[in-house]
Amino acid sequence: MKGVVLAGGLGTRLHPITKVTNKHLLPIYRKPMVYYPIESLVDAGIDDIMLVTGGNNAGEFLRLLQNGKEFGLTHLNYTYQEGEGGIAEALALCRDFVDNDKVLVILGDNIFQNSIRDHVEAFARQERGARILIKEVEDPERFGVPRLDGDRIVEIIEKPTDPPSSYSVTGIYCYDSQVWDVIDGLEPSARNELEITDVNNFYVNQGSMEYSVLEGWWTDAGTFESLKKATELVAETGTVKA
Ligand code: DAU
Repeated sequence: MKGVVLAGGLGTRLHPITKVTNKHLLPIYRKPMVYYPIESLVDAGIDDIMLVTGGNNAGEFLRLLQNGKEFGLTHLNYTYQEGEGGIAEALALCRDFVDNDKVLVILGDNIFQNSIRDHVEAFARQERGARILIKEVEDPERFGVPRLDGDRIVEIIEKPTDPPSSYSVTGIYCYDSQVWDVIDGLEPSARNELEITDVNNFYVNQGSMEYSVLEGWWTDAGTFESLKKATELVAETGTVKA
């Protein structure tokens, strides 16, 4: 299984601090933000990784991460996203890298307390389709939110004003090789992005979307509030490596 870390986008929700640097290079306690998703992948046994970056500071990632020796890797792959056309657009840049393999995608501003190894192993056993991790949160309207019917997800709604459940779809997505054709068929959303939620709803409609409920804390770090929360959580309890 290949791993993809998405660290593109312009981080405008964190202006002015992201005017001169990339959001994923900002510190979360003792390390730059992007370290945490990479550590989650490596801990789960994924060592063939591509990092998607963008904006004006893409070169800094090479200086910081090099070939990933600090993470126990021998090589890291990089690609560049122009602008911020969405999470699915950033993922599409990895098509040749992933080829016919399965892929686990992790958002570069998502931090997970616990190992995601069980989740990765469950997807490795899954014959086809996709797999996501959901987590109960107090502010689901900030995220992709699943509508549940019994133990099945029947729909995911991106940032709903009236959330159909108190769960958020976290930023870890596992896909089979159908994902590339799905992205090819997407239309930009109202915020002019190719939405990962639209990709996920394809699998939901196909009946091939599996999920687990995440244990341990999880947070994004893309707003001032969540950046502060992420730093506090990492400092208080640590993650797989911290
Ligand atoms: O954090 C989980 C949430 O992430 C999900 O619940 C939502 O369904 C999903 O849409 C996403 O929501 P956000 O609107 O918070 O995502 P954001 O635009 O902050 O992007 C998250 C990461 O994705 C960002 O840190 C880098 C990467 N990204 C994003 C965009 C828009 C890219 O690599 N390229 C992009 O163009």
